[in-house]
Amino acid sequence: MTQETIQSTLEEIRVFEPPKSKALFSSLHDWKLASDAFQKDFEGTWGNLAQQHLTWQKLFTQVLDERNPPFYRWFADGNINLSENCLDRHVNNGLGEQVAIIWEGEPGDVRRITYNELLAEVCLAANGLKSLGIKKGDRVIIYMPMIPEAAIAMLACARIGATHSVVFAAFSAQALHDRIEDTGAKAVITADGGWRRGAIHDLKSCVDVALTQGCNSVEHVLIVKRGHHDTNWQEDRDVDWVDLLKAQADVCEPTIIEAEHPLFILYTSGSTGKPKGIVHSTAGYLLWAHLTMQYSFDFKPESDVFWCTADVGWITGHSYSVYGPLCNGGTTLMYEGVPTYPDAGRIWKICQDHGVTVFYTAPTAIRALIKAGDDYPNAYDLSKLRVLGTVGEPINPEAWMWYHTVIGKERCPIVDTWWQTETGGHMLAPMPFSIPTKPGSATLPLPGIFAGIVDAEGEDVKDGGGLLVLKKPWPSMLRGVWGDEQRFIETYWEKFAHKGYYFAGDGARKDEDGYFWIMGRVDDVLNVSGHRLGTMEVESALVSHHAVAEAAVVGRSDDIKGESVFAFVVLKEPESEGLEAILRAHVSKEIGPIAKPDTIRFADNLPKTRSGKIMRRLLRDIAAGRDINSDISTLEDQSVIAQLQG
Ligand code: WT7
Repeated sequence: MTQETIQSTLEEIRVFEPPKSKALFSSLHDWKLASDAFQKDFEGTWGNLAQQHLTWQKLFTQVLDERNPPFYRWFADGNINLSENCLDRHVNNGLGEQVAIIWEGEPGDVRRITYNELLAEVCLAANGLKSLGIKKGDRVIIYMPMIPEAAIAMLACARIGATHSVVFAAFSAQALHDRIEDTGAKAVITADGGWRRGAIHDLKSCVDVALTQGCNSVEHVLIVKRGHHDTNWQEDRDVDWVDLLKAQADVCEPTIIEAEHPLFILYTSGSTGKPKGIVHSTAGYLLWAHLTMQYSFDFKPESDVFWCTADVGWITGHSYSVYGPLCNGGTTLMYEGVPTYPDAGRIWKICQDHGVTVFYTAPTAIRALIKAGDDYPNAYDLSKLRVLGTVGEPINPEAWMWYHTVIGKERCPIVDTWWQTETGGHMLAPMPFSIPTKPGSATLPLPGIFAGIVDAEGEDVKDGGGLLVLKKPWPSMLRGVWGDEQRFIETYWEKFAHKGYYFAGDGARKDEDGYFWIMGRVDDVLNVSGHRLGTMEVESALVSHHAVAEAAVVGRSDDIKGESVFAFVVLKEPESEGLEAILRAHVSKEIGPIAKPDTIRFADNLPKTRSGKIMRRLLRDIAAGRDINSDISTLEDQSVIAQLQG
C-alpha cells in the first residue's frame, strides 16, 4: 500500500442534505450522540440496547467476552429465542392483526400474513420438524423459492434451535450437494418449484440430484408444493409440507436458546477456494438486524411497508427481508419472481400496488432498470416511497443520481449500505434523515461501529486509499467459518492480529469530511505502473459515457506496467465507428491517462452470478487469454463467454 493512490477527477462534490422529517434520528447531532455513547461506554451502551430492544428468556450478565480473540462472545450467559422476538412478543403486544408478510407470486397471486397467522404457521412447522426428530443443534438446509414458507422454515428452525443454512435457489445441484455435505444437514426443506420468468423452476429435482451421492446425513426432504407438477416422490424420504403441518398442534413453546447458539450458516465465496460457511450467532445477530432497520432505514413498523428485493438465499435477505423487519414488528414484502417479468415495470408496479415506503435493492438492478428506460417507473405511482437503499457493490454516481431523481423524485434519501455476509448487518450507511449524502459514498459508520482505513501495517492512513478494517468487535460479527477455524483466523484476523482489527477485504478511502468511499475488493485493485487504481473507478468513468450501459474492468499482467487495464463494456446502442478510441479518451479525461484501458471488448452482457455479481475471476482469465478455471456453474448466461473471448 505504499504506492501513491490515483486521485480521481471523478471525485464527487455533490452533497445532498438529509430531508427534514420526524425521524428516529433527525439530525447530524442525533447520529453523533448515538455514536458518542459507544465511545464513552462501549459495553454499557451495547448492553442497554440489547436489554431494551430484545426480549430475553434469561438476561445476560456479561455483554462482551473478549478473553479469547478473535472468538468474541456477546451476551453469552443470556438465553433468547429469535422466533419469540420476531413473533410472540408482537402478538402479546396486541399486534397480532398487523401484517407481517405481504407476498406476491410471479403470476400475481398475493398473500397477506398477519403476525397471528405467522406465529401459528411457524409453530406448526416447528412441531413438524420436531416430529421428524430434528432437534436443537441439528442443521437444516433450506432450498426454496421466494415464498412465505421460506421465511416460515427459517423461523421454525430458529424456534427449536436448529441451525439453518439457506442455499440460494439458483445454485446448482452440485453447489447444494457441497453445502449439505459441509453442514451435515439432517433435513432439506425445498419446493417442487417456484415461478421464474413465466415457468416453474423445479427445485426438488435438483435436491434429488444433489442427494444421489453422499449426503448420508439427510434423513428427510420436506417439500412445499408450489409448482404442482409431478415429481419423483421417494416415500421413505420425502415429506409433503402441508401433510406434515396438518398433523401438528399450532402451539409450540420456544426452545431455550443460548445467546451464542449458531442461528445460521450462510455460504459465501472467498477470493480463493471453496465457499466458506459463515456462522452467525442468535442474540448478537438479531440485535443488529433489528437496530439497523431503525438506524439505516428509519423503519417505523406501524406505518412502513418495507421491501428488500434480495432473495433469502443471501445475507441481505436474511437480515432485511426476514429477521430485521419482523423483529421490529413491521411489514416486509416478498416477491417470488424475476424483477423484470413480464416487463421492466414489475418492481414499480409492486411498489405502487402495495404502497411500499422503504425500498432496498442493488446497484446492478438499478443499472438494469436504467437501461430499460424511464417510461417504466414513470408509469407508476411511487409517491409512498420515502427511503431508498442500495447494497452489494459500489454504486456509480450516475446510477445514484437516477435512483435519486427518477425513483425518489429528489425527495427520498439514498442509503448506500456497506457491509458483508460476515458482518451480519450494515456497517457503513447514512442514517437517512441525519447524514448528508454524496453519490457513491456509503458515508459514515453507524453508531457502535468503529471502522477505519489502514495501511498494510495497520496504521491509519490520512489521505488516499487503504484497507477497510473494523477496529472493535460488534454483536452481529461472524462467529466463525463452519468447520474451519484456521480459515476464519487467516482470512479475517491474521493480517492485523497485532491490532485486533477485522480485515474486510475491501479497499476504501476517506474524504475530507471523513466519508468512506469503497474502492472495491482489494483483490480487484489494479496496480498500473506503480499506481493503485480502483477497477470501480474506471468502470464508473466508462459508465459515465452516454454510450455505455455497463462496464467491468480487470487487470491483465503487463511486462512493463505490472498490470494493464482491460475493460469489458456493454453498450446502450450498437457500436459506432471509433468508439473504442473515444471511450479510452473519455476514461483518460475522467481519471487520467494511467487509467486508460489498453483493451476494450464489447459484449451484450457481462458474466454475472445469479445474484448479480460480476464474475471478475472469469473476466481476468478471459482478459489474460487463459483457460477458464473459474467455477461457472452459477453463471446466468453461459453463451456470453464466447463473445467476451473476442
Ligand atoms: C462485499 C460483500 C452484504 C450485502 C451483500 C453483499 C461489497 C457490499 C457495498 C457497498 C461498495 C459494497 C464489498 C463487500 N459491497 N456493499 N454499499 N458499496 N461495496 O454481501 O456477498 O458478502 O459481499 O460486497 O466488496 O466486501 P457479500
